[in-house]
Amino acid sequence: MAHKDRLDYIRQLFALETPQLKAIRESTTDKNDQIGINPEEGKLLQLLIRLAKVKTIVEVGTLSGYSTQWMADALPEDGHIYTFEKDKKRAAMAKGNLHSSKITLVTGDALETLSSISAKAPFDMIFIDADKLHYLHYLDWAEKHIRKGGLIVGDNTLLFDAVWREALPDRVRQTALQAMREFNQRLADPAKYASLLLPTAEGMTIAVKNF
Ligand code: DHB
Ligand code: MG
Repeated sequence: MAHKDRLDYIRQLFALETPQLKAIRESTTDKNDQIGINPEEGKLLQLLIRLAKVKTIVEVGTLSGYSTQWMADALPEDGHIYTFEKDKKRAAMAKGNLHSSKITLVTGDALETLSSISAKAPFDMIFIDADKLHYLHYLDWAEKHIRKGGLIVGDNTLLFDAVWREALPDRVRQTALQAMREFNQRLADPAKYASLLLPTAEGMTIAVKNF
């Protein structure tokens, strides 16, 4: 069968959404629809979860819960994902979409609310996909609360291609650029991590903690 393009081929074969995932994506409105992950990124997160035998996940930035559900679907029965959303409208949307006992949604600013689960550390995986200005703060928390061999994953780490360019695109702030460059630089340290910035549409940095 012919396909529209290479992504269409890949998605049809390897990244088919469950009816629930499709419904979440289709219910996600306007701008929010464009800032969620893609199906192939959801599948990649699932693969990482299976490969690293991940049981506990922290997600910073829930949005509609689409990425949350992709990850929850790959967790074993006794696995759990804690997901943090600051925006009340997005949190309400996620609450309507997520119904698994494997998922805990925490509403509020993660800079304040992450401490509510610190006692449950160390975690197996921490997925950072929230406001880009605070990526370094989330990384500070992640580095303290991830287990050895655990995964720290950051979305949008190409920062709309600003991260490698000389000139700053209109939509990107200088402070966010500096934060993202430092975020990647820290995760690129081979003494601390086995890591790579994968060139997905938005860039996804994946780091396995060495110690
Ligand atoms: C934006 C945020 C995201 O997490 C994303 O994946 C894409 C875009 C944004 O804020 O524009
Ligand atoms: Mg993102």
